[in-house]
Amino acid sequence: MTRSEFRIEKILSREVLDSRANPTVQVDLYTASGFGRFSVPSGKSKGRLEAIELRDGDRQRYTGLGVQKAVENVNSILGPKILGMDSREQEKIDEILINLDGTDNKARLGANAILGVSIALARASADTAKSPLYRALAGGRKPILPLPLMNILNGGQHAGNDLSFQEFMVMPAGFRTLKDALRCGAEVYHALRVRLEAKYGKSATNVGDEGGFAPPISSVEEALGQINDAVEEAGYSPGQNVILGIDAAADSFYNDKDRTYAVDGREIDPDELLELYISLQEKFPLKSIEDPFHDEDFENFSRITKKLGAKLQIVGDDLFVTNIKRVAQGIRAKAANALLVKINQIGTLTETIEAVEMARKADYGLVLSHRSGETEDNSIADISVGLATGQIKAGAPARGERTSKYNRLLLIEEELGSSARFYGPEFLKSHN
Ligand code: PGA
Ligand code: ZN
Repeated sequence: MTRSEFRIEKILSREVLDSRANPTVQVDLYTASGFGRFSVPSGKSKGRLEAIELRDGDRQRYTGLGVQKAVENVNSILGPKILGMDSREQEKIDEILINLDGTDNKARLGANAILGVSIALARASADTAKSPLYRALAGGRKPILPLPLMNILNGGQHAGNDLSFQEFMVMPAGFRTLKDALRCGAEVYHALRVRLEAKYGKSATNVGDEGGFAPPISSVEEALGQINDAVEEAGYSPGQNVILGIDAAADSFYNDKDRTYAVDGREIDPDELLELYISLQEKFPLKSIEDPFHDEDFENFSRITKKLGAKLQIVGDDLFVTNIKRVAQGIRAKAANALLVKINQIGTLTETIEAVEMARKADYGLVLSHRSGETEDNSIADISVGLATGQIKAGAPARGERTSKYNRLLLIEEELGSSARFYGPEFLKSHN
């Protein structure tokens, strides 16, 4: 390969649709001898401190959610500035993109525009080097197949039911391969469908935004109980090979006027919410709790981490927004022991890697995550393997925009052959 092969020759962006029928930014980036494409995902239960997704606001198109301005920012501002550069200079180029925007939260040109270019660049560079993306990102590090956190029952802002917690996940950890773990997740998903239909009727198996069922359940304990029973019915052992996770996404049911949380039809204070988590963890093989309190409550995050952190994972999503300033604050306050990593929360690959490495240094668990609004793009599968995050959260084992990630992991596992290492058993061992 010669240097000139990595020369950035062309960048082209367009508006495409995401899984919620909303427009999103897609970017194509051509080097002299390679190509990369990325489609930007979009969250619904967004952290307040996330980088800003630029939307047109013209209600005549897509009720204001068009991204023509962001597309135009790629085509006429960001793209032209990096033409002719060497695509391997990811850090330097990301810095140029950040400076062109000039704001703290990428509000001017849009984190959607910037991330589109940043990841398309990484893909094009890997393609030019004739390397899969995960290998290009791994550098010298050994790639790891992540433990999937599969969201099979949806609530909160992702569903039309009364469940206050947003995500109820199975973590098929006790397997030697990712392939077996995925099979388990899918079998539990089916067993859960049968149970829900028998108990609540056919409409209980309609699905939420991430492909999990959205039954008319209004108690978080009932939801976890149904999943735990489905695990057994599918022939697996809760706690042995399958453990459970939740994403409370507590911001979405927090009332900041009276500082209470609306859970299962009751208004409870942070102490009662902490008690609820403790009791759920006593009753179920619960090993991961994400965003247990609202995103400014470092204090209660620290309390739950102190109380339960030795046994399970306390994950900061809206708390950290993949931002090193927030992660540093969290590490100082001992506010969690794991970081949820969302590339579009921060807006460039370089800044994502910085957050990952800061958290890794502090011995944090790492969960690479999709968004509730996704596309068929599967880059996060490669990013998770390449950065050796050990865990990935990509929704239910159903719907194309979710399975595209899991299916990509299957291919990577096949390609790695005997050198493939699945993180599940290690996670189990360290959370016993
Ligand atoms: P979001 O949800 O993509 O709607 O923000 C995902 C999450 O909260 O983890
Ligand atoms: Zn979350």
